[in-house]
Parts: sequence; structure tokens; C-alpha cells
Amino acid sequence: MTSKPVYLNGQYVPQDEAKISVMDRGFLFGDGVYEVIPCYLGHLFHFQAHIDRLTASLAGIRMENPYTTEQWLEIFKSLIDERENQYIYVQITRGVAPKRDHAFPENITPTIFAVCNNIAPFAGLETGVKAITADDSRWKFCNIKAIALLAHLLHRQEAVDEGCAEAILIKNGVVTEGAASNVFAVIDGVLVTPLKDNRILAGITRDVILELAVKHNIPHCERDISLAELTTATEIWVTSSTREIIPVVELDGVAVADGKVGAVWDTMNTIFQAYKQSLL
Ligand SMILES: Cc1ncc(COP(=O)(O)O)c(C=O)c1O
Repeated sequence: MTSKPVYLNGQYVPQDEAKISVMDRGFLFGDGVYEVIPCYLGHLFHFQAHIDRLTASLAGIRMENPYTTEQWLEIFKSLIDERENQYIYVQITRGVAPKRDHAFPENITPTIFAVCNNIAPFAGLETGVKAITADDSRWKFCNIKAIALLAHLLHRQEAVDEGCAEAILIKNGVVTEGAASNVFAVIDGVLVTPLKDNRILAGITRDVILELAVKHNIPHCERDISLAELTTATEIWVTSSTREIIPVVELDGVAVADGKVGAVWDTMNTIFQAYKQSLL
């Protein structure tokens, strides 16, 4: 049986047969960016926003988006199974260079890869998860969705080692984001999330939650959250495209409020699921 097709540099090839050069700068340096786009029953969720973020990530590493939105759509449609809830993973590296040199080679052709997989249902969605806090060890350009994810991986592993689902990162005493998610907290009845700047990835799920909060009159604001405030929050959530809105019910071994999934999460999750459904 041949494996499912993936897109690689203009061709659709079985995943087992897709090959890249060992001289690819993505392999050698982590010199590239990526996107993850949910696709519910064939509908690409906030597709243009994901493409815009991809273009911004590429610009952040001095590359251009190789395709138009229409061209991306055509590629992704060829990979999607409309009967499933899936996500597109797309990765662009600077390409294959004749020698390993840190400086960008001239006239290099990017390596473009895309694959579509089913979204595995996340067990913690209804019950909540445990998280730890960790000192954010990442670089200055967390707004770029870079494939060089070593710091993120180490943070996620710190969480897993503690039996937790996510590490919530703290920089200079304030919350930035999760190892692979954005963070929301309910503080004094207000839904708060850190500001969108180069300390965090501008999550598409985060933006949708804020839009839904406006539409449904849920008090909210974007501002710094200190670690001290986080520990007194009545609710904490971590959000991402493939896991959606996950309530955190225990932080650093201490229950968040009563240790149960909160009412604001319940409301937002219901609104979010209805919104997703309305787009199909
Ligand atoms: C570091 C980081 N922040 C935030 C997010 C959430 O972004 P989105 O909601 O667009 O998936 C992710 C997603 O993987 C991430 O890796």
C-alpha cells in the first residue's frame, strides 16, 4: 500500500517517497517557517488569516510568499479529505544551498512542503489539563512561526516530565504564551490575554476568541498578565488551532480556583463550537 500523497515542490508524491536534500537549510539550520491550518469537513478555518501570517513569517526571515492565496488553496484542496476534521501543515524553507554557510545564498529556490492529517480529538478539552509555569527561554521574534522550535520543545517536555499538558511561559515576570499555544486568564471577571507583539505568536484561535468576546459582550482586554495575577486567576486557558480552547485546572500543582472547568470557558467554548459549525 502506498502512503498518502503530500505536496513537495510542485508535485504530489506518496509521503514515503517524498525526499529532500541533506543540504536543505531547513534541515541544517532550521531556516524556514510553517503554518498549521485547521480544515473542518473541507472548510479551511480563517484561511486568509493563516496565509497572511505565513506571509508575515516569511517576511520576518526575509523571504517572499512563493504562491498566491489561490495557488495555496488549489494545493491544499488536493490534499484535503472533506469527510474529516483535518489540519494542513505547510513548511517553507530557504531551500538547498551548495555549501553550509550561515549567510543567505543568492538565487536559492525555496523548499515547499504541505501535508494534511486528521485532527486527533484532544482528551483535555472537556475536563481541563494541568500546566506548569516556566521561564521563557525563547528568542526575540516569537511572532515568527519559525520551524526552529528547540526552545518550545524543551518547554513542552518540561511540562510532560511533570505530568502536565502545557508549559505557560513567563518573561520578565509576565506571561507570554504557552509552549505551543496562547494564554487567556479570567481576572476579576475579565477575560485577559497578553498583547500581540514579538513576545508571542499571533494565534488565529486567539483572534477568533477576541472577536467572539466582542460579539457576545464578554468583558475582555489585551494587556500584560503578571505571574502573581496568573496564580490568582479564576480561569486559565491555553488556545491553539488543533487543540482549540483548553481549560487549565491546575497550575504548578495548585488548583485553579476550585480546580474545575470554569463558567467563562464553558460559555466561550459553546460560542466557539457554534461559530465553527456556522462556517460549514
Ligand atoms: C508558540 C505558539 N503560540 C501560539 C499558538 C497558537 O496559534 P494558533 O491559534 O494560530 O494555532 C501556537 C500554535 O501552535 C504556538 O505554537
